[in-house]
Amino acid sequence: MLRIENLTACHGSLTALSEIGFTAAPGSRIGVFGHNGAGKTTLLRCLIGAHPQAQGRVTFNDLPVPPGRVAETVRRGIAFVPQGHNVFPTLSVQQNLQVAGLHFDLRFLSEVLRLFPVLQERRGQMAGSMSGGEQQMLALGMALMTQPKWLLLDEPSTGLAPVIVRNVMRQLAEVNASLGTGIIVVEQNVPATLKLVERALILKSGRLVFDGSAEQLAADPDLWKWF
Ligand SMILES: Nc1ncnc2c1ncn2[C@@H]1O[C@H](COP(=O)(O)OP(=O)(O)OP(=O)(O)O)[C@@H](O)[C@H]1O
Ligand SMILES: [Mg+2]
Repeated sequence: MLRIENLTACHGSLTALSEIGFTAAPGSRIGVFGHNGAGKTTLLRCLIGAHPQAQGRVTFNDLPVPPGRVAETVRRGIAFVPQGHNVFPTLSVQQNLQVAGLHFDLRFLSEVLRLFPVLQERRGQMAGSMSGGEQQMLALGMALMTQPKWLLLDEPSTGLAPVIVRNVMRQLAEVNASLGTGIIVVEQNVPATLKLVERALILKSGRLVFDGSAEQLAADPDLWKWF
């Protein structure tokens, strides 16, 4: 269980998140939406303990996620895929996966390659020479090398063609179904994301203004004013 209670986060004098609270059941799929600057990235960073100026409580399986101890949080089972293609461009696909899993069980490499056949096919290719979609897949695979209970993703569809976006969403659904990994995904592409998630959160100017089912959000265009 991931529990967020009364979370407030600042960047200097700017309050980016105000009194956020929600709990996320293991293995659930949650989309986080909101306009630019709403606080989505800041929220993900708080969930992994990467935001220094946070007040309130973030707990994972009843233990706190302390700010500033990201490596420890990753070892406990929360992985973060930041925005952009976070791969080592001059290493091969397989080397990228091995580096990501260095402190974990490297035997999991075969499971990741099974989940992502494209990485299996390209395992010898230099990561920097792959397409944007392939690099996003690799970044996802690298996060999975830590065998997370939770996968946090910041705008994984940025810069990808619609057909590739659908592919990324399908892969996330497959990860969730086959490994039971919980997913919290920040996205601007709301329609594509609502096909993946079961629950939606909307942030507006740092406040949680909607927490409901994906069906509810899909069916109520009035709610779309928030993003
Ligand atoms: N390092 C920083 N220093 C100062 N202000 C910051 C910093 N990072 C974010 N902010 C501010 O905090 C607020 C929330 O930013 P955040 O990046 O969480 O928004 P976001 O919802 O992810 O936006 P986007 O959709 O553009 O990615 C914004 O007003 C932003 O300008
Ligand atoms: Mg952001």
